[in-house]
Amino acid sequence: MPFATLRQVLEAAREGRYGVGAFNVNNMESLQGIMAAAARCNSPVIIQASRGALKYTNLNYLRHLMLAAVELNPNIPVVLHLDHGDKIETVREAIALGFTSVMIDASHFPFEENVRITKEVCDYAHPRGVSVEAELGTLGGIEEDVSGHVQLTNPDQAVEFINRTGVDALAVAIGTSHGAYKFKSAPVLATDLVRTISDRTHKPLVMHGSSSVPADIKKMINDYGGRMPEAVGVPMESIVASIANGVCKINVDTDSRMAMTAAIRKVFHDDPTKFDPRDYLGPAREAITDMVESKMRAFGCAGHAGDYVPLTLEEAKHQYYNL
Ligand code: 13P
Repeated sequence: MPFATLRQVLEAAREGRYGVGAFNVNNMESLQGIMAAAARCNSPVIIQASRGALKYTNLNYLRHLMLAAVELNPNIPVVLHLDHGDKIETVREAIALGFTSVMIDASHFPFEENVRITKEVCDYAHPRGVSVEAELGTLGGIEEDVSGHVQLTNPDQAVEFINRTGVDALAVAIGTSHGAYKFKSAPVLATDLVRTISDRTHKPLVMHGSSSVPADIKKMINDYGGRMPEAVGVPMESIVASIANGVCKINVDTDSRMAMTAAIRKVFHDDPTKFDPRDYLGPAREAITDMVESKMRAFGCAGHAGDYVPLTLEEAKHQYYNL
C-alpha cells in the first residue's frame, strides 16, 4: 500500500464522522509503537514530524523508518505529514523526502500574509498530489519557536481563507495549547465554534494541542523520580465533542512523550543495574502502543483502515486540477 494523502484520509473521516489521530515521532520506537497500535485497531494513522524531528533524525533516517512502517503494515493507510512547516523551503524539503502531506503554519502573520504564504504552498504541493494543512487563529503556548496568546479562529475569516488558498484541512484555535502545561483546571473549549466553522467551510478541521496529559502517567513519572508540575490537558470528552462537531485530525505529541518517559523511569527505578537500551526502550514502545490504541478507539478511527484504497500521489493530483 502506498502512503495515503491527508485529503483522502480526512475526507473519509469527515464523511464517517470520526477523528484520525496524528502522532508525532522522533525515533524508531515511537514509530513502531504507533504502528503497532494502528495494526491492533485496524486504523488509518497520520504520522507527523516537526522541523525539530526532521533535524533530530537527520531527514533520511526518518524517511527510511517510515518506508519500513508502510512496508510492514500493508493494510494500514499511513499519511506522512510535516507538522508546523514554517516556510516554503521546509515544505519543498519534506515533499522531496516523500511526505504526502504538509502543514504550513503562517498563523502568526497578519491574515493577508497567512493567505499569501499558504497559497504559495498549495500551488507547490497540489500539482504534486500532496495535501496541505494550514492554521488560522492562535493557540496558546509554544508552537515550534512561536509563542502566542489564544485568539480563537474567526468563522468569516475561515471561509475566506479556505476559498482563497484551497487548503485541504484547517487547524482551528478553540482554546487548546501545545505542551504538558496547558491548563490549571478543567478547560472549557470552544467546541461550538468547531460546529460553526465546519458547517460553513465543509472542510476537515484539525485540533492541535490535543494531549490529555493523563494524571496516571504523570503520577507514574513523578513516583519514579520525575518532577512534572501539576497541570491538566484536554479532557477526552472535549475531544469527542469536537470530533462530533467537525474535527477530523487530532494532534498528539506530549502524551506519547510522557508515556515513554514514565515507562523508562519505572525500569530504572525498579532495577538501577539496567543499561541495555532494549530493556527500557522496549517497555517505552509498548507504553506508546497502549496509549495510542486507547486514543484510536476513543477517536472512532479504529476499524476504518479498510474503508478505502489510498490514492497514489499521481492519482491525487487529479483531484485538484483534472490533470
Ligand atoms: P500536544 O502538545 O498537546 O501533544 O500537541 C501536539 C501538537 O499539536 C503538535 O502539532
